[in-house]
Amino acid sequence: EAIFGEHRKNSKGFDLFQPIDQDAFNELRYHFSNTQWHATPLVNHDVGHKQSFDVVNPANHNDAIGSVVFADESDVLRAIDSARIWKEHGVRSRGVILNRAADLLEQNSGEIFAILCREAGKNAFDAVAEIREAVDFLRYYAAEAISQKASKPCGIFACVSPWNFPLAIFIGQVAAALASGNAVVAKPAETTTISAWFASKLLYQAGVPREVFQLVPGEGATVGNTLTASPKIDGVCFTGSTLTAQRINRNMAEHCAPDAPLIAETGGLNCMIVDSTALLEQAVKDVVRSAFQSAGQRCSALRMLYIQEDIYASFLSMLSGAINELKVADPWHLDTDIGPVISEQALNTISTYINDNADNIVVSFEGEVPNDGYFIPPTVIETTGIDALETEIFGPVLHVAKFKAKHIGQIVERVNASGYGLTFGIHSRIDSRVEKLVSSLNVGNIYVNRDQVGAIVGSQPFGGENLSGTGPKAGGPHYLSKFIKSESTMLNL
Ligand code: SER
Repeated sequence: EAIFGEHRKNSKGFDLFQPIDQDAFNELRYHFSNTQWHATPLVNHDVGHKQSFDVVNPANHNDAIGSVVFADESDVLRAIDSARIWKEHGVRSRGVILNRAADLLEQNSGEIFAILCREAGKNAFDAVAEIREAVDFLRYYAAEAISQKASKPCGIFACVSPWNFPLAIFIGQVAAALASGNAVVAKPAETTTISAWFASKLLYQAGVPREVFQLVPGEGATVGNTLTASPKIDGVCFTGSTLTAQRINRNMAEHCAPDAPLIAETGGLNCMIVDSTALLEQAVKDVVRSAFQSAGQRCSALRMLYIQEDIYASFLSMLSGAINELKVADPWHLDTDIGPVISEQALNTISTYINDNADNIVVSFEGEVPNDGYFIPPTVIETTGIDALETEIFGPVLHVAKFKAKHIGQIVERVNASGYGLTFGIHSRIDSRVEKLVSSLNVGNIYVNRDQVGAIVGSQPFGGENLSGTGPKAGGPHYLSKFIKSESTMLNL
């Protein structure tokens, strides 16, 4: 009883600030193990009869979650035509509605938790953290918009969000655009449509007008492309691959007004340095979380770990011990550490990569890996450094390399030259070394003597540089400036 908040009986929500114990989890399973959801476009016109697609749990192919109906190109164009910026709501009134949406997310957190687990493969820790982050984004941007008196929206924003944070990033983008007074046409990732659709219905329930917010689920190549190539779009907020961001950039350059902003958060080849002064037990824990939390499917995740040569062998041995304590399983169990990757395509790409690099694997997972979902065992591959990584492998694969202290400067040069600049971790007790690294790295988020994932809205603004992103940091005070037009009015009194 203590686990659940007061609103439990009506809403099947749970208290986001209490750890979930087995009883609470069992209750969620009792309510939502067989629930099915049927997501459709949420637009201001009749979409007619369209084919629906079945959605299956990435962790368990026998678990049918429901179905989705995608929008087509004509739906996107009609949605844009009917979109209107907020007319009858000033910034405070918008803030009230967004805070109400946050309340509704909290009250419905049990059902959202189930959707995140069964549609996106989120384990309990990730699902709770993601709901909290979405709630934080709504409340934070509402408050920021009020304190910044955000009053001149850009117009119609296209929000294109990824599957790895199907609730938090979806809501974060939409909340920033709505708080600033814009209209939104949102395209969620096709693999996690139900999560976005469920949250969208709560936005309406909170009072967001139908013409101000519409949801056009579908494929990037059709729906996403039509949306971001429309001359009637006044800005795009995108999180996903660098390649897609470049494609959107080209679309906008060709079709949109020159001042239309593109706010993009993209990929990374994120590194960490562990030197021989590090507190090794702590470093191992932080490496495991940074590389394998969310099955490595975070843009912030650690991909390339540099270990000082004198601790290399012992560190790898500790790392192997820690990795082999992990449980790779269906996240619809409370003790799962690593759930599935998102799709068969992801499974194939990552598995092929691991097989191609089999000769260099230095830590293998010896535990059980289920075979009725898209599971990949956590794997550590030895390499020479960031230059050897051709692309971001978006899964539970960590690369390691040894370094000599005198070569730290070269590592920084190589990281800066890679073009990416999202997160970087440092484990060292040498203050001067830490200061030098922090001042010389061209990276958006640097984490010292801790893990390098899980930025907190409002206190750890998040976003990368160069190939990793274009804009101000999500969850920070400057983010909204991209969603509004600045204006100067001079009165001659
Ligand atoms: N914001 C997430 C993190 O910090 C990544 O998108 O891990």
